[in-house]
Amino acid sequence: MDAGFFGIVILQVFTSVLSYPNGAPTSACVDMMPRHAGIKPQPNPAPYTIHPNSTTFQTGTPIKVVIKGPDYRGVLLEARSGSDSKAIGTWQMPPSDTKFLACSGNQQGAITHANTNIKNNSTVYTWIPPATAKNIVFMATVAQQRTVFWVHVMSSTLTSGNGGETSLEVHNSADRIVTPDLILLVVLLANVQYLLA
Ligand SMILES: *[C@@H]1O[C@H](CO)[C@@H](O)[C@H](O)[C@H]1NC(C)=O
Ligand SMILES: *[C@@H]1O[C@H](CO)[C@@H](O)[C@H](O)[C@H]1NC(C)=O
Ligand SMILES: *[C@@H]1O[C@H](CO)[C@@H](O)[C@H](O)[C@H]1NC(C)=O
Repeated sequence: MDAGFFGIVILQVFTSVLSYPNGAPTSACVDMMPRHAGIKPQPNPAPYTIHPNSTTFQTGTPIKVVIKGPDYRGVLLEARSGSDSKAIGTWQMPPSDTKFLACSGNQQGAITHANTNIKNNSTVYTWIPPATAKNIVFMATVAQQRTVFWVHVMSSTLTSGNGGETSLEVHNSADRIVTPDLILLVVLLANVQYLLA
């Protein structure tokens, strides 16, 4: 084998998700496409589904995310809003064999594999919603092997529960304003009764 051919083979090994055995690079944040020269994603539907532990989310409440399907080795997981390609929110404590990937200027904006060890439905990812967000979806690239992967695997839409929470807070503070007045009224009535007695 001549040096040139050997060079190309080495190059392919280095440019191929599981060409990134240590995780997807930041250049994959937006299109979530592994840089395998000439290797196309598998056609959808993927054998994978993304399962958040809630269909709604609220600022500060973590969401657990599991990817169900056959065992997988490579992953790139982000939360996104609408057609915006920006990774939003913050991932927490990557499960074993995975790590953070800095996306959209956020050090914890995405999760990718840290090695090619098997991941499965026991691999639980935890996402913290941002302070403000519209509805979101989780989007993943999932690789079974270097040459077998699916892109744009999506969860169903999670709706922001912040709106509801805000109006609840308004209610609560209204209650808080009303309550002392009621107590005062009761006290006054009691005094009136006392005076009348
Ligand atoms: C989802 O999991 C997180 C983290 O354990 C938990 O804080 C949250 O309450 C769970 N949500 C639901 C709806 O069970
Ligand atoms: C998931 O993979 C891990 C590591 O290979 C293994 O120990 C565990 O039993 C698997 N869990 C399931 C539910 O397949
Ligand atoms: C997890 O994967 C194992 C092995 O493929 C399967 O038997 C089990 O039903 C799965 N659990 C869930 C919650 O999908």
